[in-house]
Amino acid sequence: MEALRLANLGKVFGSGHLEVRALDDVSLVINAGDLVALMGPSGSGKTTLLLCVSLILEPTAGTVVFDGETIYQNGWTGVDVRRLRREKIGFVFQSANLIPFLTVRENVLFPLDLVGRKGAAAERRVTELLEYMEVAERAHYLPALLSGGEQQRVAVARALANRPKLILADEPTASLDTVRGKKVMEMLKQIARENQTAVITVTHDARMIEGFDHVYHLKDGRLNNMVSSRYSILFSTDH
Ligand SMILES: Nc1ncnc2c1ncn2[C@@H]1O[C@H](COP(=O)(O)OP(=O)(O)O)[C@@H](O)[C@H]1O
Ligand SMILES: [Mg+2]
Repeated sequence: MEALRLANLGKVFGSGHLEVRALDDVSLVINAGDLVALMGPSGSGKTTLLLCVSLILEPTAGTVVFDGETIYQNGWTGVDVRRLRREKIGFVFQSANLIPFLTVRENVLFPLDLVGRKGAAAERRVTELLEYMEVAERAHYLPALLSGGEQQRVAVARALANRPKLILADEPTASLDTVRGKKVMEMLKQIARENQTAVITVTHDARMIEGFDHVYHLKDGRLNNMVSSRYSILFSTDH
């Protein structure tokens, strides 16, 4: 089942001699449960792509079809994008961005609260997520007391809270050592498989994406090749 389709997506920043074509005619299809890695040099448009998919940034051309609904088409957005993000998209960033004055548990409860899910069912969901991400014993700590790897697992738990159709992760392992980075990636993999969630992960590190279904490379805003990597790593790193 198709989760996301981008057709001829473009994003231009600025105009005249300051114009930057951050995304140039990007087309791709991602199915439910697909694990997708997005690689490419710094400034190639990776973050812009994630932000345009989620309409945090408005594209300047093309079409975005998400979960069966056209959410953007050539300057038109006919959906409540904030609600769509709250309900259907989970975000993970390079640093965990947990709310520092809320406990781990409260951080994961927060997105449930935002969509009006409260009470015992929401509490059960939080417990389940913390156990799933192996941070249950940290539930009542403030984020600052956790290791980087633990914080990032809490961030993934938070991204999963509302059972999103799509997880967008922007260099989620960049601030972690290899072992902890791999652990976070393994968990993203498991999430995709078990929940049929589509996952798009930006990474610089080819060691992190063993077993991914698709690897896309961006260069100067163009998605210029695609390698299926389900059983082997067939590509070189491109920093
Ligand atoms: N808000 C912005 N205003 C102007 N230019 C931007 C903005 N955000 C990104 N860019 C430019 O768009 C290009 C792609 O950036 P980005 O998507 O952040 O790359 P990556 O995540 O691959 O490092 C770069 O040339 C960057 O300078
Ligand atoms: Mg980036």
